[in-house]
Order: sequence, then C-alpha cells, then structure tokens
Amino acid sequence: MRTQIAIIGAGPSGLLLGQLLHQAGIDNVVVERQTGDYVLGRIRAGVLEQVTMDLLARAGVDARAKAEGLPHHGIELLFQGARHRIDLHGLSGGKQVTVYGQTEVTRDLMEARTAAGLTTVYGAANVSLHDFDGSAPRVRYEKDGATHEIECDFIAGCDGYHGVSRASVPAQAIHLHEKVYPFGWLGVLADVPPVSDELIYCNTQRGFALCSMRSHTRSRYYVQVPLEERVENWSDEAFWNELRARLDPEARERLVTGPSLEKSIAPLRSFVAEPMRFGRLFLAGDAAHIVPPTGAKGLNLAAGDVGYLSEAFIRHYAERSTAALDRYSELCLRRVWKAERFSWWFTSLMHRFPAEGEFGQKIQEAELDYLVHSKAASTSLAENYVGLPMESF
Ligand code: APR
Ligand code: PHB
Repeated sequence: MRTQIAIIGAGPSGLLLGQLLHQAGIDNVVVERQTGDYVLGRIRAGVLEQVTMDLLARAGVDARAKAEGLPHHGIELLFQGARHRIDLHGLSGGKQVTVYGQTEVTRDLMEARTAAGLTTVYGAANVSLHDFDGSAPRVRYEKDGATHEIECDFIAGCDGYHGVSRASVPAQAIHLHEKVYPFGWLGVLADVPPVSDELIYCNTQRGFALCSMRSHTRSRYYVQVPLEERVENWSDEAFWNELRARLDPEARERLVTGPSLEKSIAPLRSFVAEPMRFGRLFLAGDAAHIVPPTGAKGLNLAAGDVGYLSEAFIRHYAERSTAALDRYSELCLRRVWKAERFSWWFTSLMHRFPAEGEFGQKIQEAELDYLVHSKAASTSLAENYVGLPMESF
C-alpha cells in the first residue's frame, strides 16, 4: 500500500490529523493497534478550547460538539471552605470553553472518517517504523496472520505515551523531561445532574477534588488519592462520602449521587520529548507530551500540534517548500511548554503535597486568596485556561 502520510494511532490526534489532511486533498492511512470499540471505551477529560473547536470546524466535525457541547464562561475555585468564581469570559476578552467529552470527539472523528471512506487499519500488531531518516519511509504491521507494508512520504506518530513512534527514535537523538506527582485522581462518571453549572476546582485539607460534567445529566467527579491507592478499595459510597467531605456546605447539600458508570485511578505526570521531529517522522499529542489533567490541556495541546502539522504538510505539498515542516517542532514546543507550565502550576496550587506540610497548605491558601482578588492574577489564570493562541508559520 502507498499513501502520502502514514498516521500511527487512531486517538484524537491521529483521527483529527487524518481529517484535516483529507479536507486539503492529502491522502492518509491510519494504523491503530486496538479495535475501534476499545479506543471509544477510554474516558478522558472534556473541556475544549476555542482553538480546538475551530480545528474541529476546519475538519468538518464540529456539528455535534456545537449542538450538544456546553459553553462555559467561568470556573469556581473552592478553598478554606468557600467558593470564588473566575470570570473566564470577562477576563479573557470574551472567550469561552466548551464542555464536551473527548470520547465524543473521538466518536465524531471516527464517523467522519468512515463516511469519507478513508482507510483505517484497526487491530494492527507489531507496528514498526522504518527509514524515516531517509527519503522513503515505511510502516510495517501484522494483521490476520500476514505482514503488511505502507510506503509513504511522511510518518505522523500520534500513538500516545506508550506508542512505538517515540520509542523508534535513537536515544541520543531525543531529550526527555519528566515529573511524576506523588498522587493520582480517582474519577467517577455517573448519570446524575452536575452539582453546579460550572466546574469547581477544590483545594481542601483532605486533598484536591474536581466537580466536572459531560452534560446536564451526566457528571464527572474526581478526588486526589495517594499513588498506591487501588480502585477496588473504593465503593461508590466511599467515593461519594469522600467527595462530599471536600465540598462547601451548599454543594454538599446539592450533590446528587448514583451508581458509577466508570471508576478509575489515573496517575499524574508532566512529560515532554524534544524535539518533535526526526527526519520524516513527526510526533504529535501524547506521543510527545503529557500534562497532569488539572486545567484539561491534554486534548487541546494534541489538537494544537495537529493544527500545526496539517498546515505544514499542506504547505509542503502546495509550495514544495520544507520551511513550515522545519519549524513544526519549535512552534509546537513553545505552546507545549507554556501549557506544561500552566498545568504544573495549577496542579501545584490545588493539591495536597504531604511532604510540604501545613506551611505548604498555608502558602497555597495565600496564593488562592491573591488569585481570586487580584485582577492581574485571575486574568493570567483565565488567559491560560481558555487557551493561548496559535502562532502562524
Ligand atoms: N501502534 C499503533 N497504534 C498504537 C500503538 C502502536 N504501537 N501504540 C499506541 N497506539 C494507539 C493507541 O491504542 C491509541 O488509540 O495510539 C492511540 C493514541 O491515542 P491517545 O493515547 O488518545 O493519544 P492522542 O491521540 O495523542 O490524544 C491525546 O488523549 O491522553 C489524552 O490527555 C490526552 O486528551 C489527550 C489526548
Ligand atoms: C473532566 O471533565 O474530565 C475534566 C475537566 C477539567 C479538568 C480535568 C478533567 O481540568
């Protein structure tokens, strides 16, 4: 098989890239290790920046996100037992975020890909990347007992943190930066109305909690737990009790509980691989960087990468120039590191760090008090939360 761009991974990065390239008339094939149903079974964050919504529109897959997504103009910060609203819209010059689950974004992208008749190979085993340091890269995989090969112009490594793309780069050519946090998020998805119209980020003596949602009838809640905690030890009742204990009296009163549809623990990590380009291999999304979920930047960063990468490929084929491809890594990493900084800062501000003791808690409370009363500080939070702008090549 021959294509222009071989895309490894059918998560949101790979599928969005495929759709943006298709809209520009660039042929692509997606190779995914798992089945489609497996990919759709992953529950992840659900806050889309305007930049992400604009890219979904450019890809022709924003209809349901626009119709069913919930526009949010603010978030609430809870600390010392009281809630304070951050007016994202007012402080960012009229921007907003859209609450719409990543699972739904993936479903919309999958359906669009099927409707366009584009090739996606699901269940591809032992995917391997070859000759991306030369002029004729190839991707090999096994399926149904046979070995298959794709010849292509470029490879897009959109295969997440555990993928084969980054792992195919020689160790001396790549620099990895990593920070692991000493806690995880225990998350529950339930068909109950959200406790509030806006997301509530809670800093409490018992640890962080987050009240989020997927719709007016489906809620997503998280509580900070020690890294070694096991999900089997958490009954639904124990989860709701712990969440309730971290809320303010009014929210505690309003909280509606119900059986969990999904319950899992996710570790928190900051990670960046530099550069993001190796000859004819380009990394995008979680393959190149991970952020802790505080602030919901993961999917938005992935979308930003893919926005830059699609533009660079389009210019390459239209202008026969490598100028944009040559700037891809640098442009992405500028935006990536700013989102890494924001996610690290918001994580550090909101969580209980056992090693920091009471002093650490007091400093967090002082910063939060400053944040909600200083226009300069809350403007900075709003500007980052709604998403920093993309640059042009
Ligand atoms: N071969 C083919 N596909 C692979 C391989 C491999 N060796 N390894 C992994 N994959 C697939 C995974 O099964 C997955 O479907 O690549 C896909 C990567 O998808 P994601 O992990 O969702 O990564 P990405 O598309 O970059 O999405 C970023 O996901 O984790 C969140 O916070 C993150 O929201 C952000 C988004
Ligand atoms: C979510 O809804 O899953 C979510 C929302 C906001 C975050 C993280 C996760 O910061």
